[in-house]
Amino acid sequence: MGSLQKTAVCLLFLFISLNASDSTFATFSCSDVKTEYNKPAVISCIGSKNITNVIVKRCENCSNRNSCSETIINTWKEKHSHEEGRIQLVLQHNVSELHIQEVKATDQGGYQWYLYSDAGEGNGCTTLEVTDPEIEPSLTWNGRKLTCLSPIGHRQRQVHWFDGHGNNLTGSASLVSEEAESGLTSLTSTLHEKPNLTASEYCCTVLYDVHTKRNKTKCLSAHKVVTDYLRFTSNPDQEILKTTKEHVPIILVLIVLVLCCFAAVLYYRHRQRAMAKGNFADLLRTLLPILRQHEKAEENAPNQEV
Ligand SMILES: *[C@@H]1O[C@H](CO)[C@@H](O)[C@H](O)[C@H]1NC(C)=O
Ligand SMILES: *[C@@H]1O[C@H](CO)[C@@H](O)[C@H](O)[C@H]1NC(C)=O
Ligand SMILES: *[C@@H]1O[C@H](CO)[C@@H](O)[C@H](O)[C@H]1NC(C)=O
Ligand SMILES: *[C@@H]1O[C@H](CO)[C@@H](O)[C@H](O)[C@H]1NC(C)=O
Ligand SMILES: *[C@@H]1O[C@H](CO)[C@@H](O)[C@H](O)[C@H]1NC(C)=O
Ligand SMILES: *[C@@H]1O[C@H](CO)[C@@H](O)[C@H](O)[C@H]1NC(C)=O
Repeated sequence: MGSLQKTAVCLLFLFISLNASDSTFATFSCSDVKTEYNKPAVISCIGSKNITNVIVKRCENCSNRNSCSETIINTWKEKHSHEEGRIQLVLQHNVSELHIQEVKATDQGGYQWYLYSDAGEGNGCTTLEVTDPEIEPSLTWNGRKLTCLSPIGHRQRQVHWFDGHGNNLTGSASLVSEEAESGLTSLTSTLHEKPNLTASEYCCTVLYDVHTKRNKTKCLSAHKVVTDYLRFTSNPDQEILKTTKEHVPIILVLIVLVLCCFAAVLYYRHRQRAMAKGNFADLLRTLLPILRQHEKAEENAPNQEV
């Protein structure tokens, strides 16, 4: 009897609560978003009731809720934005939006929402997918080298070189790949080919997808490149000539100086030798009488002693 009563009460309670959830409990729905690198993105949740408070946490991945640790929004604590306003919460009635400016590759992942209303709370998770950046390459010519820079993109993209007739010049290029943010790379390709007019133009193509051939290309006219090249390669020769011409007087002066020094040394040595001879003669002249006197003295000495 007691157990039957309990089941009846339970059933009644269940019926009431189901009814209540239909009319008064709030429900929320959040959707996934795909966006382009460096563009703005909006991720949102909509409630059946006015939303009063919001907490948003960042997750690596929506299917891994344990990774949701960093709180980026918490209206309970008056935190309505993140990263100096790059990420901002816009809350209007039953719609809660997160506006992200200049989406980065690291923004990709899960956004766990905790939503509060007067009629209860709920949660949801939004996955933001950021497509790989496909930025135009920049082609530069410094008078000696053609350089193609693809500053950021998927590591599997390729850089190819062509002339205006579609000839593949990639074989004469060298590629440098550097790590950029979150698994992306920066590619710099340098073409090592003496430019000539038959090429008509030089093009650098960044190939994003080998199958669809999706690419971005930049070209420079061979005429411009060749005239620059001639100016740059002829200038150094003129400079060398100019510098040697400028150096001629200096070299002459140096030679004259060295010769002068040599002459001075020779003259000095000669004089020293001459002076030495003169001195010796003087010495002999002064010494001889003394020696003679000394001999005489020695001769006289024994006589004195005796
Ligand atoms: C959100 O509120 C608007 C009016 O403010 C309403 O038209 C809409 O149906 C509501 N959305 C949901 C999911 O209840
Ligand atoms: C989410 O993470 C799980 C493992 O934690 C992985 O298997 C899954 O592929 C990830 N999903 C996405 C969309 O990255
Ligand atoms: C939701 O809030 C708006 C203003 O913030 C108000 O006009 C509207 O009546 C509210 N809706 C409900 C169902 O409370
Ligand atoms: C161009 O030549 C290189 C080898 O020099 C090759 O790897 C590349 O696939 C070629 N590109 C095209 C589009 O044929
Ligand atoms: C000129 O450049 C093209 C490639 O654009 C090359 O095939 C050709 O051999 C070059 N000619 C000379 C004379 O270097
Ligand atoms: C680049 O794309 C164009 C179409 O936009 C295509 O015709 C061309 O073949 C592509 N280039 C390469 C090297 O795949």
